[in-house]
Amino acid sequence: MKDLLERSHNSEPDGDLLAQLEPDRLPAHVAIIMDGNGRWARRRNLPRVAGHKAGIDSVRMSVETCARIGIQALTLYAFSIENWKRPRAEVTTLWRLLRVYLRKELSTLLDNGIRLCPIGRLDQLPDSVRRDLDETVRATAAGGRMQLNLAINYGGRAEIVDAFNRILDEARRAGTLDSLSVDEDTISSSLYTAGLPEPDLLIRTSGEMRVSNFLLWQIAYAELYVTETLWPDFTRAELYRAFLEYQRRERRFGGLSHPTLSASDSTEPHLVGVAHTPSK
Ligand code: FPP
Repeated sequence: MKDLLERSHNSEPDGDLLAQLEPDRLPAHVAIIMDGNGRWARRRNLPRVAGHKAGIDSVRMSVETCARIGIQALTLYAFSIENWKRPRAEVTTLWRLLRVYLRKELSTLLDNGIRLCPIGRLDQLPDSVRRDLDETVRATAAGGRMQLNLAINYGGRAEIVDAFNRILDEARRAGTLDSLSVDEDTISSSLYTAGLPEPDLLIRTSGEMRVSNFLLWQIAYAELYVTETLWPDFTRAELYRAFLEYQRRERRFGGLSHPTLSASDSTEPHLVGVAHTPSK
């Protein structure tokens, strides 16, 4: 990242913003709700699918940028369980765009050390989509720089339900159902995102102030960045601005930023100071 900062300062149009970032305080895991494709198209009197198509450029930019600056994991909300309610032609186009993206971007994923990890109820996807996802997962499995989670047919509540069912299945198999007791670690390690740090930063485009059933468990302590920008207009500069805003935030994880002693405290303050990564 330091090399990139030095090189980029002069050579990239967003270099000034990049140069302001503190490389050691970048979010480890970034999650994005890519919203506003339909409105982007409507404002141009185009069909909604034109917005999704334009949104692919922002996907490509976000994936490459995050990998290049050293983000460990990026999770993109590509298709929610609720999105099946959309017109069939729109859903079909989304699958087609996803397949085109996977095919066209494979070399970029490989060049940047990005491993693909689709998350969601993947067994309900069309066979052709699953096949392409499986192939890309296999081809990129060795990518050690960044994990790209694509949330597809994803719902946060469904993920928690799936986690519980997995825990129950394992206990049944092991014959330990009667004595089963579940804690936060058991649940975290049964989610689709098991093994990853929780998102530090959740970005949502198009100005809606809601989390839309996305990573409900994992975003407990995420910093939220909501921008009015519609997803197809989301630029690298705006991504850097989100990171800068994140670095200005004070993360307390329920503790205090300036531990003080109250009259009833002993001499040892046991308050939590500012931390950068959530303690699990
Ligand atoms: C939300 O905008 C966006 C989606 C439901 C789909 C996102 C898909 C892409 C960006 C393209 C394909 C993805 C990949 C990963 C290749 P909306 O349609 O809800 O917009 P609106 O709220 O303005 O109607």
